[in-house]
Amino acid sequence: MDWGMANRINRIIRPDTGRTLMFAVDHGYFMGPTTGLEKLDETVTPLLPYADSLMLTRGALRYYVSPKIDTPIILRVSGGTSILNKQMLHEGIVAGIEDAIRLNVAAVAFSIMVGADYERDTLLAFTEVIDMAERYGIPTLAVTAVGKELVRDAKYLSLASRIAAELGARIVKTYFCDGFEQVIQSCPVPVVIAGGKKIPEREALEMAYQAVQTGASGVDMGRNIFQADSPIAMVQAVRSIVQDDSNVDKAFQLYNDLK
Ligand code: 5RP
Repeated sequence: MDWGMANRINRIIRPDTGRTLMFAVDHGYFMGPTTGLEKLDETVTPLLPYADSLMLTRGALRYYVSPKIDTPIILRVSGGTSILNKQMLHEGIVAGIEDAIRLNVAAVAFSIMVGADYERDTLLAFTEVIDMAERYGIPTLAVTAVGKELVRDAKYLSLASRIAAELGARIVKTYFCDGFEQVIQSCPVPVVIAGGKKIPEREALEMAYQAVQTGASGVDMGRNIFQADSPIAMVQAVRSIVQDDSNVDKAFQLYNDLK
């Protein structure tokens, strides 16, 4: 693997643990001022010391994040439809590779819509992004399985994750499910899980625990951190599971103590 590519991946997934806590705050690109991110800087800044990387759009990065930080950035480069649009599962490229380089990002993220009406468009745009990003040693994170109508079972998530990896993704983001080992075993690149809609804190910790114990390389979690009763306590509790191998009881205790 090219040095730059390897270095960027090692900045995202810690080589000493093989794990990562990606903090996702990219929701605004299709959800607008998402609850908890209205003033993105106020939410994100105190949590940054506990995140191994920060996933967001180029607008949010420029407007809300200081260039003095050294947290690796994962830049959302897909979009084009919003939650108000019935065809919201139809994303294209919304940020070019030159801007990704200018912003000094560690990776770019693109959503693929496997099984949706516009599957082909998103897969072809995804490979365009991969070709451009690989030219400069920038890894592409594939975001899979976004969409309310999808049945997020092991069969579907394995299929979407494997397609993403075969097309050239360096990291795959998917959802936790029953039989998650099938997803891990059939995907040749590191897999991280999204948190999804806000659920009770203990359940979110349980999900993160089950995912990493089954072989996930970590989480790319957003709402279950920044919409928690105490985001600063939650990010540390999730971190204890991902990076310190805490069990759920210990992590939940930590959450309550810090909260
Ligand atoms: C959907 C996304 C998100 O915007 C986000 O990164 C998901 O994080 P979470 O589900 O944990 O809030 O990837 O396209």
